[in-house]
Amino acid sequence: MRATDDEELGRLLEEQRGYYRALAADDLNQGLELPGGDELTRALDAFQPTGSVLELAFGPGVWTGQLLRHAGDVTAVDASPEMLAIAAARVGDQRVRFVEADLFTWQPDRRYDVVFFGFWLSHVPAERFAAFWSLVAACLKPGGRVFFADDAYRTPDELVEGPSSSTIRRQLPDGTPYRLVKVPHRPADLERRLRQLGWRIKVTPTAGPFYWGAGSPGTQLDDDRYHRELQALTLRLAEAAHDADPAQPVPTCPAWTLAQLTAHVGFGHRWTAVIVERRATTPVPPDQVDDLQVPAAPEERRRWLLAGARRLSDAVRRAGPQTRVWSWADDQTAGFWLRRITHDTLVHCLDAELAVGREVGLASDLAADSVSDLLDMFSILPRIDDFPALAELCGSGQTLHFHATDPGLGAAGEWLARRTPSGVEWEHRHRPADAALRGRALDLLLVLSRRATLDGSRVHASGDTELLAHWLEHSRLEPA
Ligand SMILES: C[S@@+](CC[C@H](N)C(=O)[O-])C[C@H]1O[C@@H](n2cnc3c(N)ncnc32)[C@H](O)[C@@H]1O
Repeated sequence: MRATDDEELGRLLEEQRGYYRALAADDLNQGLELPGGDELTRALDAFQPTGSVLELAFGPGVWTGQLLRHAGDVTAVDASPEMLAIAAARVGDQRVRFVEADLFTWQPDRRYDVVFFGFWLSHVPAERFAAFWSLVAACLKPGGRVFFADDAYRTPDELVEGPSSSTIRRQLPDGTPYRLVKVPHRPADLERRLRQLGWRIKVTPTAGPFYWGAGSPGTQLDDDRYHRELQALTLRLAEAAHDADPAQPVPTCPAWTLAQLTAHVGFGHRWTAVIVERRATTPVPPDQVDDLQVPAAPEERRRWLLAGARRLSDAVRRAGPQTRVWSWADDQTAGFWLRRITHDTLVHCLDAELAVGREVGLASDLAADSVSDLLDMFSILPRIDDFPALAELCGSGQTLHFHATDPGLGAAGEWLARRTPSGVEWEHRHRPADAALRGRALDLLLVLSRRATLDGSRVHASGDTELLAHWLEHSRLEPA
């Protein structure tokens, strides 16, 4: 950004601060009585902002009171001393520490379990969006969570620079005009943008003009790691299958032989490489994918497998992981396919190694990421296609906690899955649940992906055994 642009943005943000300072005297009304307003309150209660909570841009303190229903303590930051006085009088609770500071320069002096902001994100200009989210990340303890509520509401007379500009003009009740930032985020786009920044946040629209977001910093591995693992796992699979009879059954994929498993993995690499190469925005029919003939000779087969993985990797590197391409998930990027196919290759590498009697092993962070990928599929696939077994995982709020015991995983090794009426939802969270599984990430992955039975595994189960048995029976990735 040029210096003059930056100075101009600084002036705009100062005017925005000035607007809210002047407005503080007139009770700020976010229009929560509009349709959907009550959904925000309910969503925040369901989120349960427990522990130490940081509230950014607290305004008149309406949300502060709600946070205190769950929080042990709240640190509340806002630039307006007028808002601070109003909020302090309204809340009147010793558990709240009010801080007067400009959020575009403020730095936290400690970390929090939850960061909350109501009707603030839309006032963060695009140029400061990434920096703002870095601030949020810096404010969170490991395993910390975020909740925000906002709207995309702008009246036609506010759009003094036209609908494509995020600068709007609002007036005080006495008619004094101020320029403000109001970014009309669309929930799906916002969720995608946050995913690109590495967050795992679900943004939910309400019936009215509002939306809310809840989630945590992502725990995905970085792209270079996926590129490396894709090659390494493909090589392991190729080596496991090298001297084996292609007709040999694969016990952990009972419908397949090693030849079918090899063909599936090689197809997956090439199909997704074509999607990325073409920047396809609709599904690519399988008959448009080339080089699908699996060579019979072991050495050629090995080269063919490696060539497929290399082709996908090259395609993603050339396009860039953020490039938009079709996928069956909400994440419509080339990077989605790199991660998804790395994990598809991973489980089938384990299948091949188990089939030929090899010892299986995985780095704990890779195994944990594979558990996350698997849970993603449990939640996404039934929404887009007919997966009768997975559909049985709909429920009425039953919870399952999976805990990886490998050292150093932190939140990446905690999963709280919930069976809701519309399907499986999950988050990285350590919390008591109706049933729990505890073990190394690799052992959890083997059990959850039905590669090992619970009884024969090193995974420790506790809680509702029927619920666990039901989950393990129905978490099958088989389309109708
Ligand atoms: C739309 S209000 C939201 C208030 C409150 N969270 C709510 O939902 O009722 C925006 C708040 O942001 C504050 N604010 C504006 N610019 C700020 C800045 N640069 N740093 C910190 N707070 C700021 C204002 O003082 C105001 O309280």
